[in-house]
Amino acid sequence: MKLSDRLIRKYYHLKKKFGWHSFYTPTPDTARGLKQAFKQTQSLAGDYYEFGLFEGYSFYRAIKLGKTWGQTAHYFGFDSFEGLPDVTGIDAGWRFKRGQYRSSLEEVTANLKSKNCLADNVYLIKGFYNESLKNKAKLNHLPLGPAKVVLIDSDLYESARDVLNFIYPYLQPGTAILFDDWNCFEADEQKGERRAWREFLALHPEIDTELTGYFGWGGAIFKVKKISA
Ligand SMILES: C[S@@+](CC[C@H](N)C(=O)[O-])C[C@H]1O[C@@H](n2cnc3c(N)ncnc32)[C@H](O)[C@@H]1O
Repeated sequence: MKLSDRLIRKYYHLKKKFGWHSFYTPTPDTARGLKQAFKQTQSLAGDYYEFGLFEGYSFYRAIKLGKTWGQTAHYFGFDSFEGLPDVTGIDAGWRFKRGQYRSSLEEVTANLKSKNCLADNVYLIKGFYNESLKNKAKLNHLPLGPAKVVLIDSDLYESARDVLNFIYPYLQPGTAILFDDWNCFEADEQKGERRAWREFLALHPEIDTELTGYFGWGGAIFKVKKISA
C-alpha cells in the first residue's frame, strides 16, 4: 500500500480512537479503479452495483463518482453485513476467514449518512449471496436496471460465482466490471474471482468482453463489448 494511503488510514484510525466518526477501506486502490470505470462509462446510462461493502467506503466513493461523471440512476449495495461467509471448498486455506470484514447494516448506513450519501436512489440489501441474490420476493421491490458499473469485492470464488449469475441479465454493452480481488489466491486461475469469471464466460459465449485495465495490487477491470442474441 502507498505511503500516502497508509498515512490516511492511520489518520482515520486515530479519529475513531478519539471518538470521531470515521471509516475507511482495506484497499484504497479500489476508489482509483472505480474512477477509471466511471470515466470509461461516462456516456453509458445505468445503475451501479457493488458486492462487498465492508464499512461502505468504496460504495460512498462510487456515489460521489456517479454524481461527478453522471448517468447513474441507482446505487445498489449487496452485503451480508456480517462479514465473509464460511470459507469452504476451493476458497479454504488462504487468508480469508468467516466473519472477516464485518460491519453491520446500521454502521454502514451511519457511514453513508455522514457523507450525505443516503439518497432515495441508494439501496442496501442485506444477506449472504447464496440466499439474497435468489430471493425474488425481496428483489422484486428494487428498481434493478441495466448495469453501468459493477464492483465485485467479495473476495471468494463462491461469492463471485453467485454475483455473476445474478448480474448476468443486467449486463449491457459497455458495462464495466471490476474485480477487486483478481490477484488473490496467488492469482491462481483455478481459484477466487478468476475461476468464477472463467466459468461464467464459458457458460455465456454470447458475451464478448475485454480487459481494459488494472488497479492497485490486485484489481482488474473488464468491459462488456457485445452481447450476441
Ligand atoms: C473486502 S470487504 C469489501 C471492502 C469494500 N468494498 C471497501 O473497499 O471498503 C468484502 C465484503 O464482502 C462481503 N461478502 C463476501 N462474500 C459474501 C457473500 N457470499 N454474501 C454476502 N456478503 C459477502 C463481506 O461481508 C465484506 O463486507
